[in-house]
Amino acid sequence: MHRSLGTAVYTLGSSPKERERLRQQSADLRSHSVTLLDQVELGPGGSAIDLGCGPSGALDLLADRVGPNGQVTGLDSNPTHVALARSFAREFGLNNVTVVESDARRTGLPAASFDLAHGRLLLINIPVPEEVVQEMVRLVRPAGWVVADEADTGFPLCYPPHPAWNRLCEIFVTSYQQDGADPYIGRRLPELFRRAGLVDVGVEARADVHPIGHARRTLVPDLVRSMRPKILERGLAGEQELRELDRTVRRHLADRRTLVIPFLYFLTWGRKPEASGHPRIN
Ligand SMILES: C[S@@+](CC[C@H](N)C(=O)[O-])C[C@H]1O[C@@H](n2cnc3c(N)ncnc32)[C@H](O)[C@@H]1O
Repeated sequence: MHRSLGTAVYTLGSSPKERERLRQQSADLRSHSVTLLDQVELGPGGSAIDLGCGPSGALDLLADRVGPNGQVTGLDSNPTHVALARSFAREFGLNNVTVVESDARRTGLPAASFDLAHGRLLLINIPVPEEVVQEMVRLVRPAGWVVADEADTGFPLCYPPHPAWNRLCEIFVTSYQQDGADPYIGRRLPELFRRAGLVDVGVEARADVHPIGHARRTLVPDLVRSMRPKILERGLAGEQELRELDRTVRRHLADRRTLVIPFLYFLTWGRKPEASGHPRIN
């Protein structure tokens, strides 16, 4: 866990494998972010911030939307992720992107300085997500947009069913909850947005089915691998059980007849009212 910014929690750690998984994730969730950005107004010359951008996040997509005269800020609390995001921007010639190290709950950036605040799989790591949503609202100008794509682990689907899959999901959810984060955050997004005073709130859910060979087909065992030290430390499972579950679940998922939808994702958007002092709650 990275602790340089006080109480920041990132339950999945920052091993080289986890960093690689996050880079791959950016590519895999690209279509979600395209859908989300299509719901809002962000065009050439605009400004956007990607909170909890990780090693790449949606920086390229946002940079593309705002064009060379626009400005994108990536923000992450993990200095390793910040360094990787900077190299990502350099590597892909994203000259309109700057990356800063800060806590998404208290960025220290000026209020009303962006047209759009974006967060993907950030709130699922935050014990009090309201704090980040409020900060996102503060960061956008009146009539600007706040958008988020968050998972909800409440409906993991594996068919044919397998007890090892159920057990792995149970371990995953319990460990996440013990970090104080909410693995069912996805369904709460529209409510969080409305309570923060956003209007024109919209939501769309995604249930991605991953075929053999797709990186996210093994998302649950991969995440459990990233969380392994914590799971062992907390006594949620022993070394041998984890090894056996990992092997059994991966074998089950390697069978092309197995259908898997690891999580649901909720794409949510909302607009800051023009007159920010008197929000219209919809
Ligand atoms: C699951 S990753 C998602 C990365 C990226 N948004 C994406 O979708 O590819 C979550 C990221 O949030 C960052 N993070 C966690 N807590 C944070 C906080 N309080 N402030 C800023 N970043 C945070 C982590 O360091 C990590 O890079």
